[in-house]
Amino acid sequence: MSIKTAVVDGVATIEIARPEKKNAITRAMYTQLAVAFDAARENPAVRAVLLTGQPGIFTSGNDIEDFVQRPSDEEPPSIAFMKALIGCDKPVIAAVTGAAIGIGTTMLLHCDFVYVSDEARLAMPFVSLGLVPEFASSLVVPRLIGNARAAEKLLLGDPFTGADAVECGIANAVLPASEVVKHARRVAERFNALPPGAVRETKRLMRRGASAAILDAIGVERDIFAARLQSPEAKEAFSAFFEKRKPDFSRF
Ligand code: COA
Repeated sequence: MSIKTAVVDGVATIEIARPEKKNAITRAMYTQLAVAFDAARENPAVRAVLLTGQPGIFTSGNDIEDFVQRPSDEEPPSIAFMKALIGCDKPVIAAVTGAAIGIGTTMLLHCDFVYVSDEARLAMPFVSLGLVPEFASSLVVPRLIGNARAAEKLLLGDPFTGADAVECGIANAVLPASEVVKHARRVAERFNALPPGAVRETKRLMRRGASAAILDAIGVERDIFAARLQSPEAKEAFSAFFEKRKPDFSRF
């Protein structure tokens, strides 16, 4: 089981736990994540959700082997995960315990609170894999930080620190690695003392203005992403990853 869940003191913890592959997320794990978010939403004992990884790694993003093997004719389970996270009407607090790559960063755009370890590096290197942004990041990132800084992160795929993420408005605070989960849990537990109906409605109101555009962006990105997965550029990038070499895009 690479996604672990537990409900303790009103907080549903959803933990990505595949450290041997740097918490790369497989198709099965996306399904488990979607089920976990839906269960947290439905469970009246849950007041908030804590999303975290393993010491030193939040997630290295989509499993690249799964990218290679993804059937082209069905909706990928990552979409169900995206919809479950976006549709979670309880506060979601992310504790970013280390590197957060690809969807590891884009999922943070849809959490309510993001606490980042001082060792974390974030990155959205879709272009260098021959791909395009997903999880509405092509919409949300430019809106959040402006086109100039979005171009560094989405076109060049430049990695950035937790402090940069705070400065950009992607994260709330940077904490020592040993503190990040504890702090996120303390924030999550504060919702035990707040009225859940008012919290739920406020979250819904805060997200209402952008929600249709976000779902639309996810759909548009999904179709281009699926086509890009079959592209010679992506095939070269995936081969290079597994052969542990630099990709060569000079012939395209
Ligand atoms: N998909 C599949 N396997 C992955 C993976 C991914 N996204 N990320 C890491 N792994 C695997 C590696 O292939 C390696 O497997 P092996 O031990 O069988 O060779 C193992 O996890 C350890 O990774 P490694 O690269 O040796 O660890 P590192 O500490 O040197 O680097 C990262 C960590 C996260 C910086 C690096 O693994 C990385 O860049 N991963 C790919 C990130 C990425 O491009 N994600 C997709 C974004 S769309």
